[in-house]
Amino acid sequence: MKTTRVYAPASIGNVSLGFDVLGAALTPVDGTELGDVVEVKEADVFGLTVSGPFAHKLPPGEDNNIVTLCYAHFMEEMVKLGKPVHHVAMTLYKNLPIGSGLGSSASSIVAAFQALNVHFDRPFDDNQLLLMMGELEGQISGSIHYDNVAPCFLGGMTLMTGDKDQVTVSLPVSPSWYWVICYSGISVSTSAARDILPKEVDMATALTFGRQLGVFVHALHSQDFTLAASVMNDVIAEPYRKSLLPGFDEARSFSMAQGGLAFGISGSGPTVFAVCDNAENAEFIREWLQANYVQNEDGFSHVCRIPQKGTVEQQVKE
Ligand code: HSE
Repeated sequence: MKTTRVYAPASIGNVSLGFDVLGAALTPVDGTELGDVVEVKEADVFGLTVSGPFAHKLPPGEDNNIVTLCYAHFMEEMVKLGKPVHHVAMTLYKNLPIGSGLGSSASSIVAAFQALNVHFDRPFDDNQLLLMMGELEGQISGSIHYDNVAPCFLGGMTLMTGDKDQVTVSLPVSPSWYWVICYSGISVSTSAARDILPKEVDMATALTFGRQLGVFVHALHSQDFTLAASVMNDVIAEPYRKSLLPGFDEARSFSMAQGGLAFGISGSGPTVFAVCDNAENAEFIREWLQANYVQNEDGFSHVCRIPQKGTVEQQVKE
C-alpha cells in the first residue's frame, strides 16, 4: 500500500518588521532536517502515531494532536466537495520543539494537509489549502495568522495580502544573506506571547510599521539589501516580548557588533535570528549564541538559508 510522506520546514514569523504578515522558510546549510514530517496511508480506521525527538512534549492523546484535527477538517472539506473519502493511518515525526518560535505547529499542520492532499490526488489547490492551514493554526495560537504556514508550505519569503482569494505573495530574497537562528531550549506559548501585547498601537508606531514594511518590499524588489536590512526593526512585539527571553539584549548586542545586519525574535520566541551577509560572520555568531543564548539541552543553533521550496514530498521505501 502506497505511503505519502511530506516534510515541512521551520520558519521565521514576523521577520521583525512584519508582525503577522511576513514570514520566511528556513533550511540549515549543514543539511540538518529542521522540520516535521507526516506520513499518510490508507487504513481501515483512523490512527495517529507520533515519534521523533520532540514527540514526548506533545499533549498526550490522539484526539488532542493537531494532526488529528487537520485530518478531521480535511475530511469535512472533502465531504462538502462530494469527494470520496476513506480512513487513513498517519504518522507525525515531531522534529521541531514546541513553543520555540520556529513555526512548530505550522510545520505539523502544513505537512499533514499537504500529505493528505497528495494522498487523495490533490483535490484542493494551494490557496484552498492555505486557508485550511491558517484556520488550524488559529485554533492553536488563538488568532488566524499565515506568517508561518505560508512560507512553510510555499517556501521563500511570503507577505500576506489579507485577501482570501490570494492569501500570500512571494518576495525576492537576498542571495547573499545567511540567517543564524538560535533556539534557547525554553518553551514560550504563542497565545501567552500574544496576550502580553497591547491591544492598540499609537500613531507613531503605526507610521513606523507602515514605512518600514513599504521600504522593505521596495528594497527587496530593487535589490538594495542594505536598505532592506536597515528597516528590519520590530516596533510591535519585541519591546514587550523580550522580557520573556533571558539573554536577548546581550545576544542582540553581540550579533550586531560582529557584523549582523539585523537581529530579532523569530515568531513569538524564544528563538532569535541574526542576518549576516557572509558565512564566516554567520558561523561566528552561531557559535556564540550556542554557547551563550542556549539555556538547556533542548537548545540549538543553525546557520540557515531561505529555501525556494517549502514542503518536500519524500520517497518512502515500501
Ligand atoms: N505572528 C505570530 C506572532 C507568529 O508573533 O504571534 C507566531 O505564531
